[in-house]
Amino acid sequence: MKAIDRGRLNALMEREQKRFVEERPKSKALFERARKSLLAGVPMNWMAKWAGAFPPFVREAQGAYFYDIDGHRYIDLCLGDTGAMTGHSPSATVKAIEEQLRRGITLMLPSEDAVFVGEELQKRFGLPYWQFALTATDANRFSIRLARQITSRPKILVFNWCYHGTVDESFITLKDGVAQSRRGNIGPPVDPTLTTKVVEFNDVPALEQALAADDVAAILAEPALTNVGIVHPEPGFHQVLRDLTRRHGTLLIIDETHTICAGPGGYTRAENLEPDFLVFGKPIGGGMPGATYGFSDHVASLIMERHSLEDCDTGGIGGTLAGNALSLAAMRATLTKVLTKEAFDHMIPMAEQWTAGVEKTIAEFGVPWHVTRLGCRAEYLFAPARPKNGTEAHDAMDFELERFMHLYAMNRGILLTPFHNMALMSPVTTKADIDHHSRVFREAVKELVS
Ligand SMILES: Cc1ncc(COP(=O)(O)O)c(C=O)c1O
Repeated sequence: MKAIDRGRLNALMEREQKRFVEERPKSKALFERARKSLLAGVPMNWMAKWAGAFPPFVREAQGAYFYDIDGHRYIDLCLGDTGAMTGHSPSATVKAIEEQLRRGITLMLPSEDAVFVGEELQKRFGLPYWQFALTATDANRFSIRLARQITSRPKILVFNWCYHGTVDESFITLKDGVAQSRRGNIGPPVDPTLTTKVVEFNDVPALEQALAADDVAAILAEPALTNVGIVHPEPGFHQVLRDLTRRHGTLLIIDETHTICAGPGGYTRAENLEPDFLVFGKPIGGGMPGATYGFSDHVASLIMERHSLEDCDTGGIGGTLAGNALSLAAMRATLTKVLTKEAFDHMIPMAEQWTAGVEKTIAEFGVPWHVTRLGCRAEYLFAPARPKNGTEAHDAMDFELERFMHLYAMNRGILLTPFHNMALMSPVTTKADIDHHSRVFREAVKELVS
């Protein structure tokens, strides 16, 4: 196994950064202008973290590609970190949006589309009742609020190095086994150790111990971690998780926002999970903001027992624009015409091909890395073995190396998901796109180690 020479890595990074800047004069000029009106020159804080000296500014996106204002085409394997997993501007969604735009956008009243979407979600995920939000973050937050209300318990439990959006309770990590506010947590309202317990994914004894006091309202979990690299559950883990939560009266919120990559009904349907709540955001409207959270019959009746007509517009669950007519029209079209079983039948083999390409290069050059896949999502990690938990996955991260791999790919027309090494397939990603990635990945590794 070959270690990476840091001197060589830094020299290559300098070369790639020079190329990036030289080839993007228009993005550079726009970024300089943006710095005078946007904090750090970007509309969102984390957009400053892209591997280039500045982010490429986008002219337009269509299907599996986008074009920057300097005229470069990119194969988009980031796909808005799953928000555009449908491919950019899928025609069925665009048509539904165009039609709805002329018929009203937001009303605070239901439209027929809401019922179609609720029925479609029932079929996909097997849960009977659904509500809407504008983001997965909000859907998670609202599920937590409801779980606290119906259990009368204060605490939430999450897995170490999870990510569920900007949910205050979730920014907690274990350091040497001790829970603490996660590095980078901005202005937490309270110390998250007051609201949250955190255990390692796949750690059954720790989970048993954390639930023993019967004070945990809900576990908020991705069925496989996806935001620290992919961490798969060990065989039987989900059964134990479900048994323990039931035994201790703790509700189980499964966040399928990324793991929808496992199939049309997400990991839940693929592996017959039985969550109390299920959250799904990002690509549900083909890129149009929208998210949903659903719950079991039992949870629905507990919620309704506490429901008061007079107070149901108060209490931390809401959003004036949530469930708006435009989002629901987009969701209906996306669910019925874009993110279909047929789409997954194309996307999953594309991810298999991507994985095989990366695997071949890892073996050829003997680098101590590995690649893993979940449905139509795949990822390489800078460690030889699959991580068992968030800490192992996090310890495999290598900021410098990751930035180099991303920049090298960007300079050759490929966008990977930032902050880790993930590739997502859309229904219109082609074999040729994947072949291009396999070639570029091989060249990058070859330059690093030969
Ligand atoms: C698993 C998971 N849940 C929820 C979210 C939050 O989504 P949003 O930022 O759209 O609210 C994310 C974002 O990356 C996520 O990865």
